Amino acid sequence: MIVRKNMGRGKTLLMLLMVLGFLFATYNFVSLIIEHKAGGLLEPFDKKVMESTSSNLKYHVALTATDAAYSQWQCRIMYYWYKKVKDMPGSDMGKFTRILHSGKADQLMDEIPTFVVDPLPEGLDRGYIVLNRPWAFVQWLEKADIEEEYILMAEPDHIFVNPLPNLAHGSQPAGFPFFYIKPVENEKLIRKFYPEDKGPVTDVDPIGNSPVIIQKSLMEEIAPTWVNISLRMKDDQETDKAFGWVLEMYAYAVASALHGVKHILRKDFMLQPPWDLHVGKKFIIHYTYGCDYNLKGQLTYGKIGEWRFDKRSYLLGPPPKNLSLPPPGVPESVVRLVKMVNEATANIPEWDSLNRKS
Ligand SMILES: *[C@@H]1O[C@H](CO)[C@@H](O)[C@H](O)[C@H]1NC(C)=O
Ligand SMILES: *[C@@H]1O[C@H](CO)[C@@H](O)[C@H](O)[C@H]1NC(C)=O
Repeated sequence: MIVRKNMGRGKTLLMLLMVLGFLFATYNFVSLIIEHKAGGLLEPFDKKVMESTSSNLKYHVALTATDAAYSQWQCRIMYYWYKKVKDMPGSDMGKFTRILHSGKADQLMDEIPTFVVDPLPEGLDRGYIVLNRPWAFVQWLEKADIEEEYILMAEPDHIFVNPLPNLAHGSQPAGFPFFYIKPVENEKLIRKFYPEDKGPVTDVDPIGNSPVIIQKSLMEEIAPTWVNISLRMKDDQETDKAFGWVLEMYAYAVASALHGVKHILRKDFMLQPPWDLHVGKKFIIHYTYGCDYNLKGQLTYGKIGEWRFDKRSYLLGPPPKNLSLPPPGVPESVVRLVKMVNEATANIPEWDSLNRKS
């Protein structure tokens, strides 16, 4: 601080006080922002508790999965965190089912509540395994006893990071808007399955089937249409080529629109590291993107980082326990993800051995 020599002592003191006052105010402001971004850890839960006391708001967590080791280790972590947040204030979670669409039991039957369904008939999936998801839902909804009125469609690479309330509103379901699902920009293709007489192409939401919280009765109507649209999209070369690995997401968006269903779009449903930097008040960590950083904590996306966490590094078996934490400077969302994976793998019995058997 530069204080001119000819200033009197009183003046100097006054200036010093003013500067201190300013610094203090700035500090308060900055901590307010930080607290806000961190999701206001001290926020009282009372309001949410009131909202969730009604039991018919509960949703069933439905996780579609296969018996591949890659799917199994993710399901184990997912189920571990479901159990941790299920009964926390603010959660409307009901029971949990892994809908296993490999057609036969696997070694996780005792660990995770599981319902086995058939895969699509031989050859119909054309090697695109996720086409089995809609068919899995059709069978499960038809055959299983589900006590909750709502269901959450979830995927193995989801981790519940905050207690998740029922985000649906009556018969209006809630979904997550994906930046890469763009019905309007693909009007020509969408129109093959959502003809003009059905309505504007903006009826088709920019979502996939997961995460979605929806009334069970509504899903029973949509699921068979979703199977039909996925198969027809897969059969249409132009659509198959354009939509690629997100085809079954578009198929759900179109199928629900065909039933006149619009979703509440909730950006806070999920966060996707490394792009989303803070967990805040969001509900699910979706770890579909690789997280690659150099040792200075800078993102090197698309280039293998000196430090990395990428689910695809563990295609054949589970990640080891106690993964190293990222270097300083890496966003909180990534640190949180790795800590949550580590906590799960430290506590799940037989982590290293169980799902290497298949
Ligand atoms: C989808 O439904 C349409 C009309 O109901 C039907 O003609 C078609 O065969 C179905 N396609 C598939 C692949 O199931
Ligand atoms: C986890 O790894 C760190 C080093 O990366 C080590 O210091 C720590 O003791 C390990 N913890 C456990 C439980 O193995």
